[in-house]
This record gives sequence, C-alpha cells and structure tokens, in this order.
Amino acid sequence: MSLQHPANVESLIEASRDKPKHHHKERSGRGLQAASYGARYTTQDLPRDKFPEQGCEAEAAYQLIHDMTDLDGRPNLNLASFVHTWMPPQADKLMAENVGKNLIDEDEYPATVDMHHRCTSMIAKLWHAHPDETPIGTATTGSSEGILLGGMALKRAWQAKMKAKGKNIYEPGPNIIMGANAQVCLEKFARYFEVEARLVPVSEESRYCLDIKKAAEMCDENTIGVFVILGSTYTGHYESVKEMSDALDKIEKEKGWDIPIHVDGASGGFFAPFVHPKLEWDFRLPRVKSIQSSGHKFGLAYVGVGWVVWRDHKYLPKELIFELHYLGSVELSFSLNFSRPAAPIIAQFFSFLHLGFEGYRRIGEGDLVNARILSRALEGSTEFKVLSEIHHEASPNDPGYVEDETKAGHYKPGLPVVAFQLSPEWKKKNPYIQQKWLQTLLRVKGWIVPNYELPPSVEKEEVLRVVVRESMSEDLVDLLLRDLFAIVKELDSMDDSENIATVAHRSQQAVQKQANPKHVPHHKKAKGDKAKSLSVPC
Ligand SMILES: Cc1ncc(COP(=O)(O)O)c(C=O)c1O
Repeated sequence: MSLQHPANVESLIEASRDKPKHHHKERSGRGLQAASYGARYTTQDLPRDKFPEQGCEAEAAYQLIHDMTDLDGRPNLNLASFVHTWMPPQADKLMAENVGKNLIDEDEYPATVDMHHRCTSMIAKLWHAHPDETPIGTATTGSSEGILLGGMALKRAWQAKMKAKGKNIYEPGPNIIMGANAQVCLEKFARYFEVEARLVPVSEESRYCLDIKKAAEMCDENTIGVFVILGSTYTGHYESVKEMSDALDKIEKEKGWDIPIHVDGASGGFFAPFVHPKLEWDFRLPRVKSIQSSGHKFGLAYVGVGWVVWRDHKYLPKELIFELHYLGSVELSFSLNFSRPAAPIIAQFFSFLHLGFEGYRRIGEGDLVNARILSRALEGSTEFKVLSEIHHEASPNDPGYVEDETKAGHYKPGLPVVAFQLSPEWKKKNPYIQQKWLQTLLRVKGWIVPNYELPPSVEKEEVLRVVVRESMSEDLVDLLLRDLFAIVKELDSMDDSENIATVAHRSQQAVQKQANPKHVPHHKKAKGDKAKSLSVPC
C-alpha cells in the first residue's frame, strides 16, 4: 500500500490551487473538504496526509468519508473475492450493538466468550473431531492468522521431536511442503518463522494444485508438515488431503518420519462439510493435526473472523499458550493479536444458529448450481475454455456420488469458483488482444473479475476467476454472461488499429445509455461539453 501519490501528481495538484494573497494558516496545504462541504459546515480545512489541527464536525467527516467510499467497487459485484459481503439485517444489528466489545475482555463480556467457545466446539465437531480426543481452537482474524498459528505449532512439535532424538534443529533447519499454488499467507508463515518453504511445482496434470507424488519426494526428516489446501485460491480445486495422508503413511512406514498435515481450509472448511460431506479431508484422517478456515468466507460471516482448531490439546505445544492473570481471571491466550473485535464472532454465531447445517448445505448447493451454469455457458462457447471442474461429473465410485444431476454429489468436488480463459482458437484468431483487457472492460460495467497468472511453472497461463458466493444470484450470472460475451464480440470486431480505450469508451457509453436513456453520445455533444476522459490501463 503506497503512502503517497507520485511526487509529480502531488506538485501538479499543489500548483493548481488558488493562491490567496494573505496566506491563512488554516487554509494552507490540502483543504480536503474546502471544495465540498467546507462552506456548509464552516469547519477547518483538513490536510491530506498530516494530523488535522482542529478536526471537523462529525456530520462533515461522515459525508466526506461516505463520498470517498463511492470510489470503491460494489462488494456484491466483487466476484474476485472469497469473502462474504452480505448478512441479514438482524446480523447487521447485532454487529452494530456489539461493535465496542473486545473479545479479549473475557471477564467483562462473558456471554461473548461463551459464543466463542460454542463456535469453536461446533466447528471441531463439524470437522469430525474424534470423541476420544480433546480439540482446542480459537477465533482468529482470518485464515492467515490461523495458518501462522498452525505452522508455529508444527514447528515447535518438530523441534521437540528432534531435540528428544538429540538431533540438530538449526542445520539444515526445518522445512514445510506446499504446492506452488499456495496463498501468500502460507509462504508468509515460512518466511516470518524461518522455515524453508518447499514449493511443489504444479502442472495441468496436477490440476494446478499439489502434486502428491512430487510432494512426497520433497519430504525429509526435517519436514515439519505439509500444508494441504482445501480450495485452491487460483482455481477452486480441492487438493487431495486423503492421498497426501496415504503418501505420508507410506513414508512413515518406510523411513520412520511422522509428518503431520495442516489443512488450509480457508474456503473449503466451511463448504465441503455441507455439500461434500463424504469427502475425507478433516480430523477423520489421523494425520490431520490442525485445520484453519475463514469464517468470513463460506462461514458466511462478515470480514474479520477465522478459526483454527487442533485435533487435540497435545498438538498445540504448551509454550505457545499464555496464561493471562490481569484481566480479572485466568485466561488462556494463543493468538497473535491480543485485542480483537467481538462483533465478527457474534455474527459467526448468528449464522450458525440461523442457518444450521441444512441452511449452509442449501446455500452451498445453490452456489454450485449457479457456478455450473456459468461454467457450462463458458465451456459451451467457442470463445472460452474452463479450467475449474465443478461442472464435470464425478465417477460413481467417488465417495458421496449421487445420481441426481441437480446435486453437488453428482459432480467433482470443489469450491463454487469458475476459472476460465480465452480459448486457444479465439486467441489464435485475435493474437493482438490481451486477456487482461477483459478485466478492465468488465470493470467499466461494474463487475470485478480478476485476471491473473497461474502459479510459477504454469505462469504463462492467465485465468479469469469468478467466485460464486451466496449473493451471486442466477440473474447476476445471466447478466455477467451477457456482458462478457458482448465484450468479447466487441473485441473480436475490433480492427488492429483500435485499442482497448476505444472499446472501453464504447462500453461505458452503453452502460450510461442503459442507466440514462436520454444520454447524448459524446460525439453528438456540443463543442466545449467535454466528456470525462477514461484512463484504462492496457
Ligand atoms: C487458500 C487460502 N488460504 C488462505 C487465505 C487467506 O485467508 P484470509 O484472507 O482469511 O486471511 C486465502 C484467501 O483467499 C485462501 O484462498
């Protein structure tokens, strides 16, 4: 996140301001609200990058910030994100009522703490904690914190094991295995906590995610664990936790190395249990020692909550647990942050109570129905190729297979994610057109659909990706498809001398025309009636 505008923009803006003859202290520098609400509220100018001397009326601050947020994309049309963006008004109300509560204040907010414990317990059972074991877990800010904690526990457990054997823990030091498709927080763990990240190259054959055979070959006695991802960020594919677990069983038998698994279930942790309940990826597999998931993704809570659970106390090394004695009673703390907002946990509890297993199942099935429509429509076209597989039929021998073609169990398991690209035939026909233009052209119409390179070793491939969340109705899928095909048609009709700005301009005119049928096209406007210029990256 950059802190400043490039210097030339800043100086251009500075040079463009009125220069009063009698220089007023308050009116010097950047007067953020002077141009908008300053006159109405008669408050001081607000400098852009330094602390305001006087501040302004709450109403003015509200209006300014409210207006600034208009520049953000619309969360509902943000198809780039796995993060949930809508909850019922009752959840909004609960969040607002509890916005001032700090989860760490256990003595002061015992009801909230109770909700936290109940959520943890519900999640451990959802992930098939074994009745003979005692799971332990905590809320986190999201999956990233859960992964850092899960990874730390693996590292400490490995150190203890090596020390007990009288082995060196510094040379060559610990390593952790993960697919090259790992989300950045997995690599962050390795870098922040000084563990060698062994990235397993991915390929089309490995479905752009963890190659089990190669992963097994990369293990050695210093491997603290394997991160297996239930729902790859790139394509939505589930990595096979069961196959990885079987491969590690074999390694243990042959070489004596007992290598644990941490499942990164950022998205799948709250999706697979409901729509693919027979898929074995969780504590049913003894090698899975810990799992984390984002409550704010398919856990259907607002942003700010994740969960990490260990299958038993013994897998969370004691030295990672702190006893706190100064907040009124003795509390156990094993999170990276001390204070954390209680409201997202309350929202999570709301979703659990409100939806129950059946509600989550229905929403998940609905997401997949819409994702299949989108996938099939793209795949049925000559313009696109689809990389995700949730619309491909499963084999009748697969666990949980059902005959009913309207049910998730009939298809290959995965997240409701559609990863696609322009077809090789279309690209051959239009060699000068770049796929990334689609991202920009869709944005002109309000859709946020990212275009990105696949992980290292297949980085030459670019994909567009749509995450079909609860808020993506069938109507929206329909509209997205119409816009997408209209854009591709337009690009197809472009002659070599045209560029993306021309198409974007036409697209924007079409959008304006839809919103305001009386809109006069730019070229028909009177001289001097300047249309806004478009700055479209290409
Ligand atoms: C597979 C995977 N792991 C981890 C994360 C990080 O999750 P969070 O944003 O909740 O920290 C993501 C985010 O998209 C993800 O897709």
